[in-house]
Amino acid sequence: MSEWVTAFAPASIGNVAVGFDMLGLALTDVGDRVLARKTDGQDVTVAEVRGLDGERHPYLSADPKENTASIAAQALWNDHGHSGGVELRIHKGVPLQSGMGSSAASAVAAAVAVNALLDEPLPVEELLPYALEGEKFASGGLHADNVAPSLLGGLILCPQVLLPDVVRLPVPAGVSAVLLHPDLQVNTAQARRGLAKGYSMQLWLEQQGLLAGFVAACASGDIDLLRKTLRDVIIEPQRSKSVPCFTAVTEAARRSRAFGCSLSGSGPSIFALCAANHAHNIASAMEQACRGQGIGCQSWVSPMTAPGARIET
Ligand code: HSE
Repeated sequence: MSEWVTAFAPASIGNVAVGFDMLGLALTDVGDRVLARKTDGQDVTVAEVRGLDGERHPYLSADPKENTASIAAQALWNDHGHSGGVELRIHKGVPLQSGMGSSAASAVAAAVAVNALLDEPLPVEELLPYALEGEKFASGGLHADNVAPSLLGGLILCPQVLLPDVVRLPVPAGVSAVLLHPDLQVNTAQARRGLAKGYSMQLWLEQQGLLAGFVAACASGDIDLLRKTLRDVIIEPQRSKSVPCFTAVTEAARRSRAFGCSLSGSGPSIFALCAANHAHNIASAMEQACRGQGIGCQSWVSPMTAPGARIET
């Protein structure tokens, strides 16, 4: 048995409104931890999965074939482990089915922890395909918009057509993200299956234009352009109906001077981008609006430069 190593991987905002499946932003202060150590056994095993309360997780499986962390770890170990096996302890910090990249955070933390056990650890970017193996199991699709920012931090453009390559985008100075998590759950795989399969040329042109404009706004720091472009005309209208506090929370954020807001990933979490000095007021306004709908909630404020996964000592 070797010593345990611990990796932390942050939660993330999937899609960031404009880039369905291809744009993601890391958060601070909320994430999963995975502890890993080498064993004399074979393969990857899961010793425990603990929830937010530190107790055995009531839903997540410790079967290594059914947990995103062990699936990612096994894929990495198959390719780069020399001998023996690996044991994992998974400590969830990200609520399940929250739209905050919970399954991705576990997969990323596991890949980073197991990488540290390798005789020759890989550069961090090369862990992406392994973390994606885990994410694919959970969401039923190949999208890196949670895995990539969780692994690398910041704002990452990761269209499927470029994978495993991804692009770190510059971010405008002084902009923060507020993430509100209502006490509701949305199953991502189900939410993805429910999306319309065909879209009009008009919508496609509109969303492409918004994404291009948003990327340009981030690069140039043009906040007016960022305000105009932080919109999702395709996916949000389909999904927001199933989040009962969506309208109240987004209206509250906009009234409090957010640049824009939308669902995080498949929801139910809702994010806003805003001036850093307004972020805490906006978070309070969003929380108040959510509670006003009779729904409990929690919120986090992050800079757009949140760091990615790391080994903790
Ligand atoms: N891009 C994914 C989706 C993220 O919106 O389905 C899931 O959190």
